[in-house]
Amino acid sequence: MDPAVLEAMQKPMLGHLDPDLHEILLEVVDMLRRVYRMPDGLVLPLHCTGTAGMETGIATLLEPGDTVIVGQCGYFGRRIVQIAERYGARVVTVEADWGECVSNDALMEALDREPGARMVAVVHAETSTGVEHPLAELGALLRDRDTLLVADCVTSLAGVPLDVGAWGVDFAYSCTQKCLAAPPGMSPLAVSERALERLRSRRTPVPFSFDLLLLEKYWIDRPVTYHHTAPILSIYALHEALRSVLSEGLEARWERHAEAARHLQAAVESRGLELLADAEHRLAPLTAVRVPDGVDGKAVQGRLLREHGIEIGGGLGPDAPAMWRIGLMGQNATTETADRVLEALDAALADEPAPALAG
Ligand SMILES: Cc1ncc(COP(=O)(O)O)c(C=O)c1O
Repeated sequence: MDPAVLEAMQKPMLGHLDPDLHEILLEVVDMLRRVYRMPDGLVLPLHCTGTAGMETGIATLLEPGDTVIVGQCGYFGRRIVQIAERYGARVVTVEADWGECVSNDALMEALDREPGARMVAVVHAETSTGVEHPLAELGALLRDRDTLLVADCVTSLAGVPLDVGAWGVDFAYSCTQKCLAAPPGMSPLAVSERALERLRSRRTPVPFSFDLLLLEKYWIDRPVTYHHTAPILSIYALHEALRSVLSEGLEARWERHAEAARHLQAAVESRGLELLADAEHRLAPLTAVRVPDGVDGKAVQGRLLREHGIEIGGGLGPDAPAMWRIGLMGQNATTETADRVLEALDAALADEPAPALAG
């Protein structure tokens, strides 16, 4: 976490109905608009997890029986499917293997077969595999269609190029604990005008806690209307995180993430280790490395944590191939951090029988 964010959380706590706090809410919304690059529509953060941000998009923009086309090439695409099914949607999946990207052409073919589909949903940055979806291209392909584009930007916001307004994304959700370098607990959203129209013309009500039109009355309309008691310290944290992103500059921050990832990924490959993501769709903030045959991936992860204080992930879900997932996000997106991880990995692998290590 950004130390300045932690410091902001120590400030005296205003009440959720204090007008001074309401100024801070407006500043958060204004900064978030700039970070999402969303000039119109509704932008605000929800007080919830990234998953609940995902659920909000589905629960708000789909009604029972509606068709949604979901690009699924990892754990989080699958989660979109699971949630959409729970809300009674007809789900059409377009799949790709672990480490590959769902093709935009295949998504458009699915839409041609299902012209009434209300929504196409993809994961911009699939954290379970380290794959980045070509979202700008998908937005361009969908531009003249009456189908909403929903994008999971949990690991992309403030970490890789993202221009929600220009790309025609109708509903983007993210979280605070990844490239924004704040603690978990909030889910920043960007919602287009046409998604708001869809929302206003619903036949069935939306969940109260995720009612964006009610939340707008607290976050943006003045005087405020109470909706729930806001977690003030999380708002301070997000405010500082956004301030820090904008003072670094969005492009500079994207480039810092890209540089750290290039450094890490080249060094991993030079050791004879294999990256999971195909070369054309590699994501910067998250690098997935296949665990070589004969190496106990979980044991290596455990040693990194215990002996070096470095936490890396493993495969997510029961059918994930054996992998290490290395996140270089926010404060950690530097070549120095990449080198620390590499040193620790080298030390742990030196004690492993590693028949598959080529380099
Ligand atoms: C791509 C993606 N989507 C959704 C989520 C869910 O976010 P949360 O864990 O905050 O619910 C994650 C979490 O890592 C993620 O990486």
